[in-house]
Amino acid sequence: MRMYDIIKKKRDGGELTREEIGFFIGGVTDGSIPDYQITALLMAIYFRGMTVRETCDLTFAVRDSGEKVDFSAIKGIRADKHSTGGVGDKTSLVVAPVVASLGLKVAKMSGRGLGHTGGTVDKLESIDGFRTTLSDEEFIGQVNGIGLAIVGQSKQFAPADKKLYALRDVTATVDSMPLIAASIMGKKLAADDDCIVLDVKTGSGSFMKSVEESRALARLMVDIGKSAGKKIVALITNMDRPLGYAIGNSLEVIEAVETLHGRGPEDLTEVCMTLAGRMLSLAGYGTPEACMQMARRTLSDGSAFRKLLEAVGTQGGDPRLIEDPGRFPRAKFSFSVQSVSEGYIRRVDTEEYGLASLALGAGRNTAEDKIDFSAGIFLRKKTGDHVRKGEEIATLYSSDREKFAPAAAKLLAATEIGSERPEEEALVYDIVE
Ligand code: URA
Repeated sequence: MRMYDIIKKKRDGGELTREEIGFFIGGVTDGSIPDYQITALLMAIYFRGMTVRETCDLTFAVRDSGEKVDFSAIKGIRADKHSTGGVGDKTSLVVAPVVASLGLKVAKMSGRGLGHTGGTVDKLESIDGFRTTLSDEEFIGQVNGIGLAIVGQSKQFAPADKKLYALRDVTATVDSMPLIAASIMGKKLAADDDCIVLDVKTGSGSFMKSVEESRALARLMVDIGKSAGKKIVALITNMDRPLGYAIGNSLEVIEAVETLHGRGPEDLTEVCMTLAGRMLSLAGYGTPEACMQMARRTLSDGSAFRKLLEAVGTQGGDPRLIEDPGRFPRAKFSFSVQSVSEGYIRRVDTEEYGLASLALGAGRNTAEDKIDFSAGIFLRKKTGDHVRKGEEIATLYSSDREKFAPAAAKLLAATEIGSERPEEEALVYDIVE
């Protein structure tokens, strides 16, 4: 079999066989296919798409690309959530400790930033000393001990996805339904959790811009999960605006901690409680509504906050940063972005907000880039808010002053201001079971 022929077949709209997909993923995993051929096929898939059968075969090949980690040593019900990616999406940092504090076992393998979206692993690495790499024994031991561990993908775990993820990130091939489905479900099935809740983002800041596309992606992933015998549900949630006010790594950790104290932004808290409620409900704790109330109580009684603190300390992170987020290192410089007109913020291009944060140093432009952990954006105004001319709409943070002007221009261009207040939008559009 030749990679050239596989690329040509997909380029011309053909349907790849299970063997061809297996050959591709095998070559990605053992390094025998060069990056230029991998990315050529990714681009062909981006334009030509894949049938459900091809997507399932790709998912299972990704799942089987690594060594099988034996998670059977973890006692209890294993649950996980996974987001398709958004801007200001720090839900994992809230949801994981909430459900772990109620007894679920969360052995979480998270990703780095992808395209314009942030990643949980990058956020956690903004906590001084936090180790996102643990041995299998440490990982399983921590989950058994305290119910929660969050790590990045190890080399042995679904390695084909690790490679594809990094290449998609820098070749504009992220927002493809089959590639997203195979990436997420390949990992979820390899991790072999009992209960899976997917947060499928929809809108200008997500990879799927319309509710219909997001629903189709959700359906595809839920069907793949069901065919593998998983308890799985997908929520379609609003990403037409950033979630919360903070965009950027340490800024988002600080906002997540505030949320665990019950002082978080309403939209973020609502989405987190809905996700946590669904995870608990899938695990048999009761109806989604009752489970949501249970989840809320972990914020008011401090148990979810204590769980995050415990997990950070156990993974080598400085717990003082979680106890007192004012201790997080500050960005060297800040810059105030002011409105150029008066009115209501009618809509924002959330992807552009994510790209502005990236441009400040909060993400990568190439796979080798180093992240500026304190860089990012703190929004002072969001969609629906009224602004006066000259009023601050956002504060930018970076260790490089030169980055402010282009990021501010991007942010302003992405913010539509008009005289009429926009209609309220739902936070959760749909649930696909
Ligand atoms: N998250 C993933 O893990 N993979 C994707 O392709 C998109 C979001």
